[in-house]
Amino acid sequence: MIDRNQKIYKMSHIVGYYSQIGLLQPAEQAISNRLKDCLSNLKMLDIGIGGGRTTQHFSSLVKEYTGIDYSEEMIAACQKKFAYSSQFITLEVGDARKMRFSDNSFDFILFSFNGIDYVSHGDRLQILQEIRRVGKPGCYVFFSSHNLKAMEKMFAIKTQFSLNPFKTYVNLVMLALLRLFNFGIDRDRIKNSSHIILRDESHNFCLQTYYIRPKEQIKQLEANFKDIEIYSWQNGRKILSEGDRALDVDMWLYYFCTLDSQK
Ligand SMILES: C[S@@+](CC[C@H](N)C(=O)[O-])C[C@H]1O[C@@H](n2cnc3c(N)ncnc32)[C@H](O)[C@@H]1O
Repeated sequence: MIDRNQKIYKMSHIVGYYSQIGLLQPAEQAISNRLKDCLSNLKMLDIGIGGGRTTQHFSSLVKEYTGIDYSEEMIAACQKKFAYSSQFITLEVGDARKMRFSDNSFDFILFSFNGIDYVSHGDRLQILQEIRRVGKPGCYVFFSSHNLKAMEKMFAIKTQFSLNPFKTYVNLVMLALLRLFNFGIDRDRIKNSSHIILRDESHNFCLQTYYIRPKEQIKQLEANFKDIEIYSWQNGRKILSEGDRALDVDMWLYYFCTLDSQK
């Protein structure tokens, strides 16, 4: 079922969509600023580059840049787009679940815009193992993932009402569509799950998308990564407490951590 996602990322209109977006998301900008003094010493692996949004930003800042995507069509679009700088960057087809790189190859690994959410639970854990394998000890790892806490809110009727009648209407239509495309998933099931795969509105409910609670994501990371930080997708702010509102409302969150050299 999840392999349908790979087919969708090959479609020309989807490739076209990712090729025309350019801006960094606020959390990505925050991490780029934070690493600015060391980026020029880092060998970077950018996974799931899509149309090259993050290639555009990072490839000229790091020491060596490698971008992969499992969609040949996305890579072809990027090769065209970055043809002028191709001697400085490597862009190739590659699946994060089984990467061709040797152990301890990279200093900074990015999997942006929730790319890790389009595989099954088992494959996600495999990707984290692969990142651990190809990252050098101390490697910076940065990725985003959909937030199940925020989705739980989306499934609740009472949070759909607003003083603005148009907003209420849009919210209720969205809830009806969510229910329709995710038959068998209700708020109770979400409430009792640490992660769940469902179809959300992105690309017209076509993609099977993995949503995870932030606490659970931290657990998945703790085996191999340390200094785990969470950033708000919406404003790029580092989340400092469990009570932070962003943990409830941001539809996705960014996770920044380093590869633990002890593990
Ligand atoms: C939501 S798009 C984001 C594209 C790009 N990173 C951006 O920020 O604009 C997710 C990308 O991840 C890629 N992807 C998903 N699973 C992957 C995997 N297992 N290995 C490599 N790429 C993958 C998809 O082909 C797609 O291009």
